[in-house]
Amino acid sequence: MAPPTFTLASRIELANCLSMPQIHFVVYLTSGHETSQVVRWTSEVTIDSAQMVHNERESGRPSLTFSSEANTAALKREDIQNLLFTSKLASNSAYDAARRSVEQSANTCSLGYIGLFLLHSPYGGKHAKLKSCRAVEDAIDDGEIRVGGVKHLIASKPRIIPAVNQIEVHLFNIRTDITTLCQEHGIVVKTYAPLIRALGMKNATIISLSKKYHCTPGQLLVRRSLQNGNIPLPKSVKKERIVENGNGVGFEIAEANMKTMDGWIGRVSDWDPTDCP
Ligand SMILES: NC(=O)c1ccc[n+]([C@@H]2O[C@H](COP(=O)([O-])OP(=O)(O)OC[C@H]3O[C@@H](n4cnc5c(N)ncnc54)[C@H](OP(=O)(O)O)[C@@H]3O)[C@@H](O)[C@H]2O)c1
Repeated sequence: MAPPTFTLASRIELANCLSMPQIHFVVYLTSGHETSQVVRWTSEVTIDSAQMVHNERESGRPSLTFSSEANTAALKREDIQNLLFTSKLASNSAYDAARRSVEQSANTCSLGYIGLFLLHSPYGGKHAKLKSCRAVEDAIDDGEIRVGGVKHLIASKPRIIPAVNQIEVHLFNIRTDITTLCQEHGIVVKTYAPLIRALGMKNATIISLSKKYHCTPGQLLVRRSLQNGNIPLPKSVKKERIVENGNGVGFEIAEANMKTMDGWIGRVSDWDPTDCP
């Protein structure tokens, strides 16, 4: 059987009967100008922004037009109907503050709604986090948010189970504990820093495996994430790298090589999503 080929038009099914594109591009800490460029060079439909990063305006507005300069060969105009702009609630406090914040994000990005909205901050305490959860659930009911998600799991019984958990997952930070738990609850894992902050490009095993698969290290790492059923979120501000990372994923990594890569010792290189007050 031919290996599954992933393109920018590939979609992943969510537990809530919706689906979303399976390759996303992050604009974490990119300036307004850089963000506008990145959005033009990507699929435009899969940009991951955040209130905290202050680039929702530049991320969302270009999505209203279908005018990419590159990287959209696999996309048709109708894919744009299913666009998915991601933003995140900066901080947890009160229910009303969270609702106002969602409304503001929907207006700032010019789309009038948020495709995927995550609780960004792990802080504020359980009470505030549950209030934020409820605000997101109600915003989903009211059509302000299409899909809700988190960046850390909260021990509670939500009315609407988060469809996505966005955490740091890569070869040095496998987090099988969280990904297994998410799978058991039908939560899709969206992985940030899948290129290991560019460290993956210098790793001897990655370089050797990428030669074997006639791809670049970036493509190998993106493919690994896709093959594990995750949504990879590679970051780059360079056009050629954005194109590279989002394309060329039409090969399959053999099970033995997946195991080699998954067998590396894990370490948390950012904050630990299971260790929040
Ligand atoms: N809280 C969140 O939701 C969230 C989300 C994403 C990231 N982050 C934060 O962002 C930080 C780093 O994550 P990241 O997204 O930057 O990690 P990443 O996607 O693993 O790596 C991005 C780095 O790789 C380089 N790169 C990209 N494609 C490349 C290619 N094909 N060849 C060579 N180099 C390439 C980029 O440089 P160029 O730009 O110069 O190409 C950039 O330096 C972390 O501290 C993380 O906490 C947070």
